[in-house]
Amino acid sequence: MQLEDLHSLTSQALTDIANADSADALENVRVHYLGRKGKLPEIMAGLKDIAPEDRPAFGKGANDFKVQVSEALQSRKTELLSHSSPADAIDVTLPGNTGFRGGIHPIRQIMLRVIDIFDRIGFNVATGPDVESVFNNFDALNTPADHPSRDEQDTFYLSDGSLLRTQTSPIQIRHMLQNPPPVRIIAPGRAYRRDTPDATHSANFHQVEGLYVAENVSLADLKGDLTYFAHEIIGKNTNVRFRPHFFPFTEPSVEVDFTCHVCKGKGCRVCKNSGWIEILGAGMVDPRVFEQVGYNPETTTGYAFGMGLERIAMIMLEIDDIRRLYENDARFLRQFA
Ligand code: PHE
Repeated sequence: MQLEDLHSLTSQALTDIANADSADALENVRVHYLGRKGKLPEIMAGLKDIAPEDRPAFGKGANDFKVQVSEALQSRKTELLSHSSPADAIDVTLPGNTGFRGGIHPIRQIMLRVIDIFDRIGFNVATGPDVESVFNNFDALNTPADHPSRDEQDTFYLSDGSLLRTQTSPIQIRHMLQNPPPVRIIAPGRAYRRDTPDATHSANFHQVEGLYVAENVSLADLKGDLTYFAHEIIGKNTNVRFRPHFFPFTEPSVEVDFTCHVCKGKGCRVCKNSGWIEILGAGMVDPRVFEQVGYNPETTTGYAFGMGLERIAMIMLEIDDIRRLYENDARFLRQFA
C-alpha cells in the first residue's frame, strides 16, 4: 500500500461513515476500518514494506487516517442519536420512574369523610379560630368558674387573657351568636390541652363538632342521626350504645359507643373485652347555653356532639400510637395515601 492508497482509503472511509444510516451500520463501518482485523492493522502491518525514506510520511498518513476516521465516527454517532426517533432512543420495556405523588393525611381523610356523611343530611361546615375567648370556650358553654378544665394545668392561656380552644364547642357559640335558629352545622378543627404526649394523648388534636338546633329536637333525633353516622362510617352492622354522662353544656349528656369494629362486639384486646368502643360525647343543648347566645330557652331545642378525630383514625386505620400522626414519616403516611 502506498501513500496515495492511504489517501483514497481515508476518503472512502469518510464517505462510508457519512452514508451509515443507523448505529448498527456505523458500527460495521468502524469494525471494517478500525477493528482488530480491519484496515488500520493492515496499514500498520504494511509499514515494513515501505521504502525507509518514505516511512515518516506514510506513518503520518496512517495516523491522520486513524484520527480522521475516529473523529468522523464520533460525530456521526452523535448525529444519528440526535436524529433518532424517541422510539429508538427510549427503551419502553424498562420500568418507569414512578414518583410518590403524596396523599391526604389520615386525619384529614377521616375529617372529610365525617363532613361528607353529615353533609348528606343537611349539615353545613362552620369554622372558628384556634385562639378563643374565655367566654366562647367556657362561660357561654355553661362551664362554672371553678371547673377543673379551666385550670392552667389543663388549658393553654395566652398573655392577653385569651386561650387556645380546648374543644371545638366554641364554634357552636360563634355560630349561634351570628345566626338565628334553625342551625345545622358540622365544625371541624384543632383543639389544645395541656396533656403530656404519650401513645394516646397529644397537646394538639382534632375534633369535629355537630350542632342541630330547631323546634322539637329530641334525644331521639340525636340517636337516629348518630346511628346513621355509625352505619356510614363503620358499616351497617354497627350498633350504637348511649351511656349517661356529664358535660356542662348539655343536659342530658351521653357518651356514645360503637360496636368494636375489630371483634364485631364479641370482645377483644382493642375494646378491652367490652365489645364497644367509645367514639363521642353528646347531649341535648342546655337551655343556659341558649340564654347566652340570645335564643329563647323556652322554645328552642337542640342536640350537640363532639368527636376526636385522632381516636377515630387510630381505631379505623389500626394506628397504635397517636404520635405517628404528627411525625410526618413518609413511610408511615404512604400506607394511607
Ligand atoms: N366538647 C366535648 C369534649 O371536648 C364534647 C362534646 C361536644 C360533648 C358537644 C357534648 C356536646 O369532650
